[in-house]
Amino acid sequence: MKTAVIGGTGLIGSQVVKILNASGHEAVPHSPSTGLDLLTGRGLPEALKGTDVVVNLTNSPTFDDASPMFFQQSMDNMLAAANAARTGHAVILSIVGADQVPDLVYYRAKVLQEDILKAGPVPYSIVRATQFFEFMDVVLSETADEKTVRLPATLVQPIASADVAQEVAEVSVATPLQGTRDIAGPDVFALDELGRITLAAHGDHRSVVTDNSAGTFAAASGDDLIAKDGAVIAKTAYRERLAQ
Ligand SMILES: NC(=O)c1ccc[n+]([C@@H]2O[C@H](COP(=O)([O-])OP(=O)(O)OC[C@H]3O[C@@H](n4cnc5c(N)ncnc54)[C@H](OP(=O)(O)O)[C@@H]3O)[C@@H](O)[C@H]2O)c1
Repeated sequence: MKTAVIGGTGLIGSQVVKILNASGHEAVPHSPSTGLDLLTGRGLPEALKGTDVVVNLTNSPTFDDASPMFFQQSMDNMLAAANAARTGHAVILSIVGADQVPDLVYYRAKVLQEDILKAGPVPYSIVRATQFFEFMDVVLSETADEKTVRLPATLVQPIASADVAQEVAEVSVATPLQGTRDIAGPDVFALDELGRITLAAHGDHRSVVTDNSAGTFAAASGDDLIAKDGAVIAKTAYRERLAQ
């Protein structure tokens, strides 16, 4: 299958391109650095010409009030171009529980992205993943100083980006779901505990202070970010990854 992977130079996109090409499909990465800008539409018609599938793995440059505009404009452009090119399947990657955390503008932006895709003219699939292992250092640094890291006890279920990319690749070359598939890591952690495990594994002697008002993930509670029944559970465990 011929697939355009927009955001194909990013963490997930670059892995999806490799997986698809290694399994005999033709996947082409696109991003501003290759001449495609989803916000302006530059390079889109050429990129989608003759493609069976478009996979959108872009991300907003900021997670703030500008993020809804990024997803609105990029999705409008992508769907108009995919419809014109008669692309048969559009795929996006969203976040497990995004609709449960309306206080986070970035999560509202991801729900907006999903809603635009669902209402659009192109057969679609949505993959929702939990927080990537690779994102955890960003989460820890958000509320860190020289001696402490403040983290809420919010439950998270982190997943290896490689497992996410594998699922996105498989969904991309299958029949459109016309719905959503959730994928999550094998273990649930309280974020403060996950911080302690991570710092210890890195030989970082700072202490974690539990603070349910600290950082982005303070906005989530209970099992908001935890995959529900029916989700695909990935194999790679966070503790194993830390030990590597
Ligand atoms: N982080 C998490 O834990 C998590 C969990 C679930 C879902 N997700 C979702 O996963 C998706 C992919 O995340 P990621 O970490 O792989 O992102 P990433 O590494 O930041 O990559 C983003 C990609 O988007 C491209 N891009 C940015 N602006 C663009 C534009 N205007 N036009 C075309 N391409 C553009 C970038 O190109 P350049 O390299 O040229 O800048 C890059 O290829 C995101 O939508 C995110 O919401 C993330």
